[in-house]
Amino acid sequence: MTFARSALCALAVAPLLLLAACDDSEAWHRLSPGWERMQVQARAETFGESPVFTDGRAMRTPPPETLSRQAEDVPGDEQPDGGYVATIPVPVDAAMLARGRAQFESVCAACHGIRGDGVSVVASKMQQRKPPSLHEPRIRALSDGELAAIVRRGYGFMPALASTLDARDRWDVVAYVRALQTSWETRTP
Ligand code: HEC
Repeated sequence: MTFARSALCALAVAPLLLLAACDDSEAWHRLSPGWERMQVQARAETFGESPVFTDGRAMRTPPPETLSRQAEDVPGDEQPDGGYVATIPVPVDAAMLARGRAQFESVCAACHGIRGDGVSVVASKMQQRKPPSLHEPRIRALSDGELAAIVRRGYGFMPALASTLDARDRWDVVAYVRALQTSWETRTP
């Protein structure tokens, strides 16, 4: 084989080699050292047996008073026949307001301000539509269901918070927002 011919051959083969190098489908087999140990470790199947517990089952009953993340027992913000729920569909008490306050101050206040008046560091940095004051007449006029739905789905530049606040948390927050709005209305300037 002449030099020219072998050079030509190498040129023809090179793209194939390159393509072969792209096939990384086996990459997950080459885990970093120590990960093999995790792949082969003993583990329980959800509905399987386990010698660890006296009843022989792997799955455990959640401790009493465990709260469901889905909060299935709490009604949502939409009515079955369309439209939003007009008022908070669960009894509002002091404990609910306290929970709502904790959620509001850790989730909403960063953007809407600790008093809900739209004064926050985030708002001061936002160029376009800022988090509004929750005391604006238009927002006060929203139904409880609409407020809860805004938190669930997000609104424009506001992120959806359904994964942070479940249905019960959202009603808690709505109750606290109503308390904030009332205290704002009756405040002494
Ligand atoms: C990351 C910042 C951020 C967080 C957190 C946030 N909001 Fe907002 N919110 C916004 C912005 C920005 C808007 C205006 C969006 C627009 O007009 O595009 C807004 C709009 C709203 C509105 C008005 C919607 C309308 O009809 O004009 C309500 C009500 C509201 N937020 C309530 C809440 C509540 C309650 C929480 C906490 C559960 C919350 N937001 C958390 C940024 C935030």
